[in-house]
Amino acid sequence: MTVKIFDTPDVQAFVKTVAGFDKTGGNDRAKQIVHRLVGDLFKLIDDFDVTEEEYWAGVNLLNALGSQTQFGLLSPGLGFDHFLDMRQDAIDAEAKRTGGTPRTIEGPLYVAGAPEAEGFARLDDEATEGETMWLTGQVRDVNGTPIAGAKVEIWHANSQGGYSFFDPSQSEYNLRRTIYADSDGRYTARSIIPSGYGVPEGAPTDVVLKSLGRHGERPAHIHYFVSAPGHQHLTTQINLAGDPYTYDDFAFATREELVVPAERIDDPAEIAKRDLDGPFSHVVFDVELAQTDAAELQVRHARPRAKEDDQDLASQLAGTAKV
Ligand code: DHB
Ligand code: FE
Repeated sequence: MTVKIFDTPDVQAFVKTVAGFDKTGGNDRAKQIVHRLVGDLFKLIDDFDVTEEEYWAGVNLLNALGSQTQFGLLSPGLGFDHFLDMRQDAIDAEAKRTGGTPRTIEGPLYVAGAPEAEGFARLDDEATEGETMWLTGQVRDVNGTPIAGAKVEIWHANSQGGYSFFDPSQSEYNLRRTIYADSDGRYTARSIIPSGYGVPEGAPTDVVLKSLGRHGERPAHIHYFVSAPGHQHLTTQINLAGDPYTYDDFAFATREELVVPAERIDDPAEIAKRDLDGPFSHVVFDVELAQTDAAELQVRHARPRAKEDDQDLASQLAGTAKV
């Protein structure tokens, strides 16, 4: 087929009407973005001769993704989360904000409100099976000075790759804690070694990835938010070394500086010192927070997590958010 209608005056005028250009109400930025988005998609339909069958299959797929709240899962798989990180890195570089542990994606599975502790926390409820993990680190500024009281939020999957809250078989806030660093900027967590996570087989996100010849697997990883007054909020993760997916992460979150080994310790003295009952794996992750005089960088949240957030979203869409 050779039909190309996108550049005709009729279609060009039609896209403007679709985007509300002839209406005084609404939100100007929304109009600009929808004009570009719809226009680009119209052009794509023309360029690829997208059939009606393909178009409606696409609509059905979007409905399936939405009804299972999977856009937050697909987003990292299609590289949007990493692309936003690349942009943020470039914004930092331009503002000469250098140094600090690299950021990487939040992912869609954070939950606010985890229990808080000072210096040390056990993340697993005692029913969680897995190899004991002893996770330690120090939070410092770019000059190497420890940041006492830094807020370290940690969350990770269990040994089946499932996250509490999303996996109803786990107890509330299992493997999620907020630890305030001690006077020397140090934090310690006892937990279990997580397994990698995989997009549910047959889910709409999996359908999309399979159509690209890709998989939906992530390496074993541990998520962090680290923050302290006067410093840039850091969203990052560590990826455990030696996982088959460490360098083949469907969510594009691995960065060389964030690949960390888990060291197996079976020295009875080390076990006794930590009051553990057997060998454990030691994981060390020191964090360097960049300085900022600007207001704390806005924390990006992959999904609404409370009723108030839903209302925020509604007001953003209505163009009334105070940004
Ligand atoms: C996804 C899951 C994760 O645990 C994560 O860290 C990032 C992405 C996902 O399902 O898209
Ligand atoms: Fe994750």
